[in-house]
Amino acid sequence: MRKIAFLTALLAAMVAQPVGATLNASKPDNEMNRFISNLMKQMTLEEKIGQLCQMPDGYITGPDNTQVSLAPLISEGKIGSLLGVCGVAETRKFQDAAMKSQLKIPLLFGMDVIHGYTTGFPLPLAEAASFDLDAIEMSARCAAREAAAAGLHWTFAPMVDISWDARWGRVMEGAGEDPYYGAKVAAARVKGFQGENLADTATILSCIKHFGGYGAPMAGKDYNSVDMSLSHFANFYMPPYKAGAEAGAATFMSAFSDLNNVPCTANSFLLRDLLKNQWGFEGFVVSDWGSVGELMNHRYASDSRDAALKAISAGLDMEMATQCYADNLAELVKEGKVPMKIVDDAVRRILEQKYRLGLFEDPYRYCNEEREREVIGSQKSRDEARYVAERSIVLLKNDHNILPLSPDVKKVALVGALSKSKRDMCGSWTCADVDQTVTLYDALINRGLTVDYSDGYDMEQNRISNLSQTLASARESDVVIVAMGERASYTGEMASRGDIAISDEQQRLVAELVKTGKPVVVLLMCGRPVIFNQVKEEAPAILCTWWLGSEAGPAITNVLWGEYNPSGKLPMSFPAHNGQIPLNYQYKSTGRPTANGGWSTRYRDITTEPAYPFGYGLSYTTFDYSDPKVEASTKPGEYATVSVEVTNTGKRKGEEVVQLYVRDEVASITRPIKELKGFEKIRLEPGETRIVTFPITDEQLGFYDNDMKYRVEKGDFTFMVGSDSKNLKSTSFTLK
Ligand code: NOJ
Repeated sequence: MRKIAFLTALLAAMVAQPVGATLNASKPDNEMNRFISNLMKQMTLEEKIGQLCQMPDGYITGPDNTQVSLAPLISEGKIGSLLGVCGVAETRKFQDAAMKSQLKIPLLFGMDVIHGYTTGFPLPLAEAASFDLDAIEMSARCAAREAAAAGLHWTFAPMVDISWDARWGRVMEGAGEDPYYGAKVAAARVKGFQGENLADTATILSCIKHFGGYGAPMAGKDYNSVDMSLSHFANFYMPPYKAGAEAGAATFMSAFSDLNNVPCTANSFLLRDLLKNQWGFEGFVVSDWGSVGELMNHRYASDSRDAALKAISAGLDMEMATQCYADNLAELVKEGKVPMKIVDDAVRRILEQKYRLGLFEDPYRYCNEEREREVIGSQKSRDEARYVAERSIVLLKNDHNILPLSPDVKKVALVGALSKSKRDMCGSWTCADVDQTVTLYDALINRGLTVDYSDGYDMEQNRISNLSQTLASARESDVVIVAMGERASYTGEMASRGDIAISDEQQRLVAELVKTGKPVVVLLMCGRPVIFNQVKEEAPAILCTWWLGSEAGPAITNVLWGEYNPSGKLPMSFPAHNGQIPLNYQYKSTGRPTANGGWSTRYRDITTEPAYPFGYGLSYTTFDYSDPKVEASTKPGEYATVSVEVTNTGKRKGEEVVQLYVRDEVASITRPIKELKGFEKIRLEPGETRIVTFPITDEQLGFYDNDMKYRVEKGDFTFMVGSDSKNLKSTSFTLK
């Protein structure tokens, strides 16, 4: 292993420095802290500030106004991290530049590895539909393994922003609308990326983003202001961030937006008080792209110097893409405006992560061409991608058990350009090798079927094309498979939409196909909940297949023919009308509850009911639920248990996500009518019964009050168990 020359010298003269993870705490006297203290003693102020600067190159994912030549700056120790640079050859080139610097501090390479690396996995929202935390962890682990083999150290994932607004383009990148579930998914993803030990070269640093509340932009417009009470934030948006920190996430990213009238990038309540002090987060916080400079656009900073002052003071350690720190921090420190200990704290946090990755031992340990060749795009990755993709599919409708298709089906009329588009199949925000994607069309051909393909609909022109030909091919077929929905590029960053309904023309095409009398299966391809009321009524079978990545085609056909029995559940409510948005299942009762009718909270022209509720998804088999039973518990920390018997009453083996919801009947602040507080995915053979038991602890009963204090109040609770957020059986409990 290559060692950095100064390492031994430094280790020889180690003196512990009392610079804490939080500013006042002293660090334990261990090898890492001694090493970093000694290194920091040798660093000039400029070199320290260099560690706080991250610059883009390669994949550019934001406005790039920097126009600087990176290698010379790196060799001067003025850049600590690069984003968007990947591949062993490229990362090695820049690491070489870092090794020319006085102290040879290695660069950290970060990139948006959002759902798989070269092997594309389902969109995070799709994966969340699996309600399978092991599968979700597996996906992150595979992404980390491939990204690390490409020289990367750090992913800007997972995005854990809760959202109730399907117009917001970034819902594709999160786990949906529920804070309890979002917290579990956040922890699973962190574990997948970081593994047990960051020194393992198959792991990378994760980044919890976007802290905090970025998923609630007003009117669903990306980057828009966020306005909510702090207890609302604590109860409905904060849990996944906190779970990410507790799972050991190495980094956090601040949101572009504001919270409580302070831009998150300079929000000391979020970054300093909550994250670093209260939660004891020891990693570092990176800004979002240019968001330190954007403090001026927020009209929160008067110039770039003011922006740097406000961000660093609030606890923002590394600046991404803009150079407010590089241009101003040295002067601010010299003038005494920024205490040296704040800069030191930020530098230490960054160096610690470099140390944990083993980069001081060998800055090139992620640069191994042979590993890059072997790991990236391997069969293991492809198998895992298909496994996760199958589990992400949600069966929305299956009249007359049209699905699964019979093995006798030989001739398929395949309609819809999305079914053939490798690019779309990968979804947005992807690193996947598009050419290696197996589309639905490819997979049908690979199964030896006769496929009569028609575009059916022109997505750019928004009109049906060659209808008579499409209908003729449908009439000749055993089954019609229609891919409809949105292009992959309709979701992602800067991709909010004011109307998430599928166009009338696209829906009319399905209606025309249904009229042929042939069995019609609709595959809904999308990165967000979409509205398709006509298709919902008229198509006999609908599968939500989202965007599933490199193995999309085989995963979909395995589900169509029943080799995998679909088990996904919707992680976001699907609205029936745009006017319902924002939409969530855990709304509050209000003084005039919707259920009362009459003078109640509702619309005069549209229903308040979603098209499909949170947690909804069918199977090729059926499950029966007993009435749930609650029993007081004697276990420490456990108040009671709720159990339910679930029986597979159909003819196929299948998996079911058994869901527990809780309502606090009367509380000291207004509380939702129900909240998910437990779930278990079980597999049952035909006729098999399983008892599922949920422990009832503080986590199930408590909430944050208006002072953001977590409390559990005595009184009555209703526990509801069932297969989705609407289809529930209940029991009650009194906490004395
Ligand atoms: C902006 C996005 O909001 C963020 O999620 C991403 O990680 C950065 N750009 C870097 O690409």
